[in-house]
Amino acid sequence: MDRRELFLGGLAAGASLAAFGAPFRAAASAPPFTLGVASGSPSPDGFVIWTRIAPDPAAPDGMGGVTTPAQVAWEVAEDEAMRRIVRRGSAMTTPAEAHALHVEIGGLKPDRPYWYRFTAMGEMSAIGRARTAPARGARNSRLKLAMASCAHWETGWFSAYRHMAAEDHDLTLFLGDYIYEYGNPATRTNLVRRVPMVAECRTLVEYRNRYALYRTDPDLQALHAAAPCLATWDDHEVQNDYSADFSQIGTILVEEFRARRLAAYRAFYEHMPLRPSVLANAPEMRIYGRFDYGALARITVLDGRQYRSIQPCTVGGSRRGHVAPNTCADLTDPGRSMLGMDQERWLYDGFKTGRARWNVIAQDLLVAPLAQKTTDGQPGTFTEGWSGYDANRGRMLNAIATSRLNNPVFFGGDMHAYFTADLRRNGFTGPTIATEFIGTSVTSDNAADSLASTLPDNPHIKFFDNRHHGYMTAELTPSRMETAFRVVSDRSDPRATVSTLKRYGVENGRPGAVEI
Ligand SMILES: [Fe+2]
Repeated sequence: MDRRELFLGGLAAGASLAAFGAPFRAAASAPPFTLGVASGSPSPDGFVIWTRIAPDPAAPDGMGGVTTPAQVAWEVAEDEAMRRIVRRGSAMTTPAEAHALHVEIGGLKPDRPYWYRFTAMGEMSAIGRARTAPARGARNSRLKLAMASCAHWETGWFSAYRHMAAEDHDLTLFLGDYIYEYGNPATRTNLVRRVPMVAECRTLVEYRNRYALYRTDPDLQALHAAAPCLATWDDHEVQNDYSADFSQIGTILVEEFRARRLAAYRAFYEHMPLRPSVLANAPEMRIYGRFDYGALARITVLDGRQYRSIQPCTVGGSRRGHVAPNTCADLTDPGRSMLGMDQERWLYDGFKTGRARWNVIAQDLLVAPLAQKTTDGQPGTFTEGWSGYDANRGRMLNAIATSRLNNPVFFGGDMHAYFTADLRRNGFTGPTIATEFIGTSVTSDNAADSLASTLPDNPHIKFFDNRHHGYMTAELTPSRMETAFRVVSDRSDPRATVSTLKRYGVENGRPGAVEI
């Protein structure tokens, strides 16, 4: 049996049925761990372990089929066989968190793997593997990351996640569009599986059940069980092209959209191995942060959605992204920000104090500028990504240069295509001060071919490919970073194979990717 069959065989029947989109009601005795396990937010002495009790992941009330709070025991061990238990405890689930658990584990040894599992209702969960970060300032010699974005349930199988799970990496980075909020349009026929809802997600119950549906996927469960993760979000965790409190639809009132966003953020928290402290300033959810891996690497996770200024250069009642003429004054307005002024200040303070050899910046969008044309052929700029927030991008790159940040490398998603880019001091010109890699989608439809025709006007883009689905890996050592663009053979094949499309090296002290 291959890994997929093993995972399918090991899962609840309900989970695999739900994976095929069939309406599914669990029996009273259905197993509780249909959504798998996860770990995240690693520190030198611990991490968060997560599960959610959901014998019926599609329950119409969003409670996963749980009617009374469940007692859940957890164990953390030094070995895969769970013989040398080093921490154990138990907790009650609550309806307020849809019976999800976020357990913060501390007091562990740095820079080593641990294994964990849960027990509830007489059943044991799968065993997950977590890993602590190296001690502060430790001279650690290697870190392997695997990164993914844009997983649309309906357009493909999550084979990319299955292959990521086998990468033997230290940390997974989710770079946005972990779910899609879309409904199930009857007009679309080229889908491999369907979501049960006709309309798009708007309420807490709907977002909860969307996350639960995704988490029934055996490949995604395998990835979460294989390594701890950090996650940022892009737009589809809430609504296509939204900005802060503003819907993409101009007639939706801020108050109405704020309630929807709150529900979506809440469901994100409930399904991610985040520390409960991210809720401390509710309704804000503080997901940006810095994660240190000894002297080798600092990973800065940015939030490009929650605090951003309203979309620039809007047309009519739509706040959707589009290519606006470069004459639109919003594009360069210094009062506008992608990150919000507080997050900007925090980021630049981190650049000043960070001394790690590599500075990985994990965020959701393409940072490099892209010269495009409007529909009537004028020089134009896409408004939705960093190019719509040019002043913020300029401040960020300037802060990198003036603080002499060691080896800044940006990783992003959103584009549904691979990009390798030099980030230049003045956008299109000037010295290269940082390196950028954008990963293609796990399954979402690829970027339009028309993007390829812009490449002659964008010589700082070293590579573009919109024909594949997959993920990225990066292996860091003190002297270099190696990044691979890993592609799956066919998103519509649940047994898709994986291969490497491109491989790049970045040398210590020399920004800019070099193809290997
Ligand atoms: Fe996407």
